[in-house]
Amino acid sequence: MLIDTHCHILPGLDDGAGSLEEAVEMAIHAANEGIHTIVATPHHGDGRHDNDASAVGLAVQELNLELETRNIPVQILPGQEVRVYKGLLDDLEAGTIRTLNDTQYLLLEMPSYGVPDYVEDLLYELHIQGLTVMIAHPERNIDFIKDPRRLQQLVGQGCLCQITSQSIMGLFGRKIQRFAIQLCKKNLTHTIASDAHNMANRKSDLSVAFSYLEKHISYKAVENYILNASRIVHNESIMTESYQYKKKIWSFI
Ligand SMILES: [Fe+2]
Repeated sequence: MLIDTHCHILPGLDDGAGSLEEAVEMAIHAANEGIHTIVATPHHGDGRHDNDASAVGLAVQELNLELETRNIPVQILPGQEVRVYKGLLDDLEAGTIRTLNDTQYLLLEMPSYGVPDYVEDLLYELHIQGLTVMIAHPERNIDFIKDPRRLQQLVGQGCLCQITSQSIMGLFGRKIQRFAIQLCKKNLTHTIASDAHNMANRKSDLSVAFSYLEKHISYKAVENYILNASRIVHNESIMTESYQYKKKIWSFI
């Protein structure tokens, strides 16, 4: 059974599910994939969407009630996909930020233009506040693609990486697919999540991606990604032991 730690399933909050019906369809699809728990991670602080902690909590309650009524065996947990922005620390103090299922794990998204210079300071502040930053889809970030060592440094400083299943499957193009797989091979991936937005062109294919990775990376890596998702929602330490390929670093660039 699988846990999805990144999904835009809450209806009407962001660019994810557009209606309750679509959210229910996404949950049914997830259940068919073997997913029993989904962390709802609406965008927050990205300049277009603000979904503060309490709004997320209410929406999660409502969707869980609906799924229960319809006997759909999926549980929704609260979270956010928080964009790196200047006021993040103030908002954290004000209580508007929500970690993944209120654990130590904060799902953080870099701005679409790249990785800002102040990010190391921000990550340090988050670290001393006891949070572990999970970087959302680093494989889709232009700065990390150009300079993977920057990502490697952030992981060395304690950040975790969450790769999108559809990146693995090539939805965002060959370059991103290749980078995503290299991040898996080089032990810079800690978990895989769907980042599903809808049922049209951004639905979950978590189980498909795991099958693909089992074939192209290893069974052990996949097992670890799956276990790490469980450890995250239970606020346990995640496994980072090496199963990496012994090739020279970033030889694919
Ligand atoms: Fe997302």
